[in-house]
Amino acid sequence: MGKDVIIACDFAGRSQTVEFLGRFGAKKPFVKIGMELFYSEGPSIVREIKEMGHRVFLDLKLHDIPNTVKKAMAVLSGLNIDICNVHAAGTTAMMTAALEGLTRPDGTRPLLIAVTQLTSTDQASMERDLLIREPMEDVVMHYAETAKNAGLDGVVCSPQESAAVHSRCGKNFLTVTPGVRFAGGDAGDQRRVMTPAAAKLAGSDYIVVGRPITAAADPEEAYLRCVEDFVG
Ligand code: C5P
Repeated sequence: MGKDVIIACDFAGRSQTVEFLGRFGAKKPFVKIGMELFYSEGPSIVREIKEMGHRVFLDLKLHDIPNTVKKAMAVLSGLNIDICNVHAAGTTAMMTAALEGLTRPDGTRPLLIAVTQLTSTDQASMERDLLIREPMEDVVMHYAETAKNAGLDGVVCSPQESAAVHSRCGKNFLTVTPGVRFAGGDAGDQRRVMTPAAAKLAGSDYIVVGRPITAAADPEEAYLRCVEDFVG
């Protein structure tokens, strides 16, 4: 899979999602399904979107004991998704188990990426609540290396971290980056944002774009602009 734009379909339910995706006609963008939509509609929404011809990144961020994650991943693998994820904080044993669960009898599997530290966690809360006292950048890079050593395919990170992740973990280790905004666009609750063109220069492999597309007056135009700036 090459560079691509993934649309974060942060909608509450099926009808809104299917209607939204219908606007793209034959283009069939890569779609991210998160907890809200998955928990409200269940696995059927994933099957339906796959049957419509979209690739799917199922963003459920699993984090549990290895045996539970392995079994859960086997179920998700059966949904024929393209990318899924776990928290690197679950440790190497959990990530290895996740890979085992994901791998189908024929040896194929969806890509598996790791969340390092959530972007909602800052240095102060990490030190206070998690008792992790290293600088955030070192923690993120360490988690990325741990994920790489466990055999995962990449990480979710800020576009600001893509270059450092690639230099530590290799250029084939995927960086999937949210926090993307058009120049002059509304940042919303995102703090550290980059334009699609800047994310391309930073070396991100995939950008995850939600509101700049889903809340645009013309979502198709916004999506095509992202693709043009990031891939084109
Ligand atoms: O609307 P927006 O472009 O901010 O959407 C970004 C998407 O990426 C959301 O689904 C958000 O939950 C997700 N995400 C993020 N930051 C992370 C991990 C995931 O914004 N660190």
